[in-house]
Amino acid sequence: MVGIGTVLSDDPSLTVKSEERRKKRVSSGLPENPLRVVVDSFARTPTNAEILRKGEGKRLVAVSTRAPSHRVEELKGLRDVEVVVTGDSRVDLRKLMEILWDRGIRRLMVEGGGTLNWSLFYEGLVDEYITYVGNVIIGGEKAPTPVDGEGFVKGISLELIGSERLGEGVILRWRVMR
Ligand SMILES: NC(=O)c1ccc[n+]([C@@H]2O[C@H](COP(=O)([O-])OP(=O)(O)OC[C@H]3O[C@@H](n4cnc5c(N)ncnc54)[C@H](OP(=O)(O)O)[C@@H]3O)[C@@H](O)[C@H]2O)c1
Repeated sequence: MVGIGTVLSDDPSLTVKSEERRKKRVSSGLPENPLRVVVDSFARTPTNAEILRKGEGKRLVAVSTRAPSHRVEELKGLRDVEVVVTGDSRVDLRKLMEILWDRGIRRLMVEGGGTLNWSLFYEGLVDEYITYVGNVIIGGEKAPTPVDGEGFVKGISLELIGSERLGEGVILRWRVMR
């Protein structure tokens, strides 16, 4: 799952990149790619976005009741694209999780960006947080952070549950403390 900000700035496809993993999925009866989800209150996802065009598998665009109907219809007309309406001004993330749960989805990986991440933390919808610390300094005072939005006064506590070297960096896996 990604937010519309990420779709518009990075145009990710969110396909499974490893051929071996794709083959493994298919041989166990799964589609090549898991369901891909865009959180997009006003149905701004371009019809030629990579996430809607590239790779096999279903997509779900979650919009709010304020999404223009012509845009919703345009998205609905695309192959393997479903549009769900939830929330009045913004997508209701809790309801969206219920919708996904009802479809049998038990694990959801969110790839950001920071605004969506913040909302998910704020609503208490995050179980695990995975960070990669790599060997490149980027910086920049206007650079987005992993969790943007309003931020937290008290912060959200994490418990480190795993670490693994990957290339010249480290993957850290954290459990969100309730
Ligand atoms: N380093 C990384 O791994 C990584 C990963 C992903 C993104 N990024 C970077 O992050 C930036 C994009 O992040 P972003 O924060 O601008 O956008 P975002 O988090 O991808 O998307 C946020 C947008 O989603 C929509 N939305 C709908 N319902 C929402 C809800 N309940 N809560 C929160 N958002 C909701 C809102 O737009 P509407 O109201 O218009 O729908 C909101 O502005 C880009 O610079 C990208 O390169 C980096």
